Amino acid sequence: MLIRKSGSLASTIASSEITPQHTFDSFKQDRRRFLTGAAALGTAAIAASQLPAIFHPQQVLAASAPQYTVPDPQTPFSKASTYNNFYEFGTDKSEPAKNAHTLHTRPWTVQVDGLVKKPLTLDVDSIQRYRPLETRVYRHRCVEAWSMVIPWEGYSLSEFINFCQPLPSAKYVQFLSLADKKQMPELPGGYDWPYSEGLRLDEAMNPLALLTFGMYGNTLPNQNGAPIRVILPWKYGFKSAKSIVKFHFTDKQPHTLWNEIAPSEYGFYSNVNPTVDHPRWSQAHERRIDSSTFPHSIATLPFNGYADQVASLYNGMDLRKNY
Ligand code: MTE
Repeated sequence: MLIRKSGSLASTIASSEITPQHTFDSFKQDRRRFLTGAAALGTAAIAASQLPAIFHPQQVLAASAPQYTVPDPQTPFSKASTYNNFYEFGTDKSEPAKNAHTLHTRPWTVQVDGLVKKPLTLDVDSIQRYRPLETRVYRHRCVEAWSMVIPWEGYSLSEFINFCQPLPSAKYVQFLSLADKKQMPELPGGYDWPYSEGLRLDEAMNPLALLTFGMYGNTLPNQNGAPIRVILPWKYGFKSAKSIVKFHFTDKQPHTLWNEIAPSEYGFYSNVNPTVDHPRWSQAHERRIDSSTFPHSIATLPFNGYADQVASLYNGMDLRKNY
C-alpha cells in the first residue's frame, strides 16, 4: 500500500462541544431496550476487580459467543504490537510502535453526524462503558497477504449504531480517523488525510463487526488504533480504521482513502477473497504470523473463514466486480 497522491491535510475536529455525560446517560435511559447488561445477555460476567486496571472499574467483561473465537494459534502480543500499518505514524511496519507515543488518547471525543436523529459529540469513555466488552479472537488478514490471530476487546458495532439512531435514509457509515500533524509529526504527505473507511449499513450491523477498545486483555496500544477502532474480520485489514474521531452516516457510498488512491487495487468492499487477486500479487495464500519463529504460508479462506456469518450480505452480487 505504497501509492501516493497529492492531497490536503484535512483539519481535525474541534473538541469543545462534548455531549455531557448526563446527556449520554439519559440517552441510555431513553434507549433502555438496548441496555440488557451482561446478566440479561446470559453471559458470564467477570468481577470488576479481576479486570486489568487499565479498563474502567465499572467495565464488565462478558464471555463472547463461540462463533466469535477462532481456534487458530494466537499471534504473540509482541508481534501484533510491533508489525503495524498505521501510516499516520510512518509507512514502515516497525514505525508506528516507535512513533505513536505522541498520540494523546485522553481526552478523546467522537463525533456522530450526517443522517442521524441527533448529531452528537461523545467522550470515548462513555462509548466504551456503554456495553460490556467481550474478548473475541479474530483472524486479521491484511491485503498485503499476511495475517495474524488477535484477541480483541470490544462490543458489536451494531449496538453503537443503534445508539446513534441513523435515519431510515442512511445507507452507509463512514469512519474518519484523527489526522493531527502535532500528534503525528510523521504524517506523510501525498495522502488524502484523514484516513477514511466505510461500510454499507447492513454490513456494519453484522454482529461480527467489532467496536474495539482493547487487545490481549488491555487497552489498545496507540499503534494498534487507540483509543477506539473498528475490526471487520471478513475484510482486508485496511477497512478497519484506527483512532476514530467521527462516525458519519450517509445515503451515498462514502469516500475511502485507499479506494480513492487506487480503485483498481482497493475496492470499496474488500472482502477477503482468495479467488480475486490484487493486481500486483495473489490473494490465494497468506503468511500467518503466529508464535512460530517464521511466518508460514496457509491457504486464504473466502471471507477470511467467516462466510457462514457474512456471505448472505452479498447475495446476488458479482464479487469479482465488487471486489
Ligand atoms: N487506520 C488508520 N487510521 N491508518 C492506517 O494506516 N492501516 C490499515 C488499518 N487501519 C491504517 C488504519 C491497515 S492497511 C491495516 S492492515 C490495519 O489497520 C492494521 O491493523 P494493526 O496494525 O492493528 O494490525
